[in-house]
Amino acid sequence: MNSDQYDHFQQQFDPDWRHETARRKPGKARSPKKSEQQIIQELADETIGLEGGFNTTYTPARYEAGFLRDSTRPFFDQELITDILAQVKGGKEASVYRCAAHELTGKKLLAAKVYRPRQFRNLRNDKMYREGRNIIKADGRPAKKSDHRLMRALNKKSNFGVQVSHTSWLMHEFQTLYQLHKAGASVPEPLATSDNAILMDYVGDERRAAPTLNEIGLASGEAEALFHKVIHNITLMLERGWIHGDLSAYNILYWEGDITLIDFPQVADCAGNSQAHFILQRDVTRVCAYFAGQGVRCDAQSITRQLWQHYSPVDEQDRLADWSRQEYDEE
Ligand SMILES: Nc1ncnc2c1ncn2[C@@H]1O[C@H](COP(=O)(O)OP(=O)(O)OP(=O)(O)O)[C@@H](O)[C@H]1O
Ligand SMILES: [Mg+2]
Repeated sequence: MNSDQYDHFQQQFDPDWRHETARRKPGKARSPKKSEQQIIQELADETIGLEGGFNTTYTPARYEAGFLRDSTRPFFDQELITDILAQVKGGKEASVYRCAAHELTGKKLLAAKVYRPRQFRNLRNDKMYREGRNIIKADGRPAKKSDHRLMRALNKKSNFGVQVSHTSWLMHEFQTLYQLHKAGASVPEPLATSDNAILMDYVGDERRAAPTLNEIGLASGEAEALFHKVIHNITLMLERGWIHGDLSAYNILYWEGDITLIDFPQVADCAGNSQAHFILQRDVTRVCAYFAGQGVRCDAQSITRQLWQHYSPVDEQDRLADWSRQEYDEE
């Protein structure tokens, strides 16, 4: 990523950075009315990244060509990718593509996770994860409760409301990846978003993407260390008040002895979600199920208890109970 793009990106998504720079932000310049000639030229320019068409090494199926082109166009235009090389996986909710990175990014390959708008809307039992979460808009900012038009659209599930909620899932995934990557977690670095896609670090090589843990067995000796790494990553999330929400061997990539956690749109909010404990326990149980099969001794119940006790915010009643217990112990 070149520095201009990085600044622009940080400005949008890093709350700390935004805070620092808010005072220096220049007023919005008014753009003069464009001539017809100018508009035509701009439209022509827009297709430059795609060489006037959608000629990628990967040949999309007829049904996917349209949304793949629309979803990845901004990545071509922003000189982040130069080609789509192959489809890594066509999932239920999203398809992931191996892309050739533009040299300005300093990377060779990148992964574009392209959400399928229709499927995306129907699939998730999203209510459980949404509780206590903000709706995040395409500009990376949370929607205001006082925005009645938006709130009404969301409640009514109008086309606009559905689009806003779709964008919010995507932005939650993007922002979670961004913050976790910044915190040193084992996740792909995200580079950009479009209406329907996230561009991020690709794990794997030119021939194949990294397998997920469920597809492989671990060599004896490495399972224990990788298990602790997964728990460490869960801890990093809890420290930020988040739970993955769909963590299992299916959402952990394995490459050259290391792991990468993926697939974060349903990230749940520890403090605001009444199901948080259940969601954490389910994540830990699924992770333990895989690693137990690889010879690691792990008890999901007690690990969940330790994680939860340590990181969940203590409410007033619990604090009073702890305090009186402490007094009693001291007597
Ligand atoms: N950064 C990446 N590098 C390499 N491969 C990736 C990357 N991200 C995702 N994949 C591959 O794409 C698959 C789908 O990605 P992801 O799990 O994020 O989406 P999903 O919506 O859960 O799809 P599914 O319904 O298949 O689980 C993953 O299982 C993995 O094989
Ligand atoms: Mg997945």
